[in-house]
Amino acid sequence: CLAGGPATAQDNYPNHAISLVVPFAAGGPTDVVARSLGAAMSKTLGQSIIVENRPGAGGTLAATHVARAAPDGYTFLIHHNGMATAPALYRKLPFNPLTDFAYVGQVADVPMTLLGRKDLPPADMVEFIKYARANGNKINLANAGLGAVSQLCGMLLQEALGTQFTTIPYAGTAPALTALLGGQVDVLCDQTTQTIPHIKAQRVKLYGVTTLDRIKTLPDAPTLQESGLKGFEVKVWHGVYAPKGTPPEVVAKFNASLRAALKDPAFTQKMAELGAEIVPEAKQTPAGLQSWLQSEVDKWGPIIRKAGVYAD
Ligand code: MLT
Repeated sequence: CLAGGPATAQDNYPNHAISLVVPFAAGGPTDVVARSLGAAMSKTLGQSIIVENRPGAGGTLAATHVARAAPDGYTFLIHHNGMATAPALYRKLPFNPLTDFAYVGQVADVPMTLLGRKDLPPADMVEFIKYARANGNKINLANAGLGAVSQLCGMLLQEALGTQFTTIPYAGTAPALTALLGGQVDVLCDQTTQTIPHIKAQRVKLYGVTTLDRIKTLPDAPTLQESGLKGFEVKVWHGVYAPKGTPPEVVAKFNASLRAALKDPAFTQKMAELGAEIVPEAKQTPAGLQSWLQSEVDKWGPIIRKAGVYAD
């Protein structure tokens, strides 16, 4: 408040714990980023950030929940590309990502890895391409539902291969990876923030990374593009959102804490180990997230409509 003016609720914000809603199962890649980010942000906010997992409908249940939550600065959402793909994937989406939120900022970009169960026959991506074309829907592909990046990656992969797998959806890629480790499914495309420890321990077969160039954390892993899927690229980005109407002073304070966390050595080191790259400062702002989200909605809408994948 101005000097001498009446005290407002924003003056002593935050004065109790804050909920950060994760749209997928605990232990998965979004959850890993959220928990590390929450721990770093609680240092500057002086309050705990409690991660609340609300999986379902490819992330759209959590986004709906936050869009409808009280705009008081105590409920936030962390979400990825799914925020931008949902309008094309869901004909009856209960929220509009471009109008129903206040934007805080972006966090980190994460590559994906294409994995097979340990005893899947193909030894590398070149063999996998042949195997996939020959076996089609006999191959089970796990994902985290329509709106998950594992679904987006799988959709682009099937399109690039000109084949159709049998899709098995889970509440997140944590249970999907458990199914892959147990041999109940054959293939999963998932983020390095969850997969790196399993790749390093050789519990899964790594066929490649989904970035155009090889990545530092897995230098021996070929890109899908160099193995024959020219131009194949999926990169995961993360944004933090609040319900529309959250006071600008509160959003500014939360954003300052977010930006401090993105410089926190514990957070940056953990992200680097897991293959994630902190976004440049221009993307760490509300305007940086909002304009990026718009560009991603514009990018993915036509691709998804062309693929003809959607829920009624
Ligand atoms: C998760 O946290 O489970 C993943 O981000 C789900 C996905 O989008 O593939």
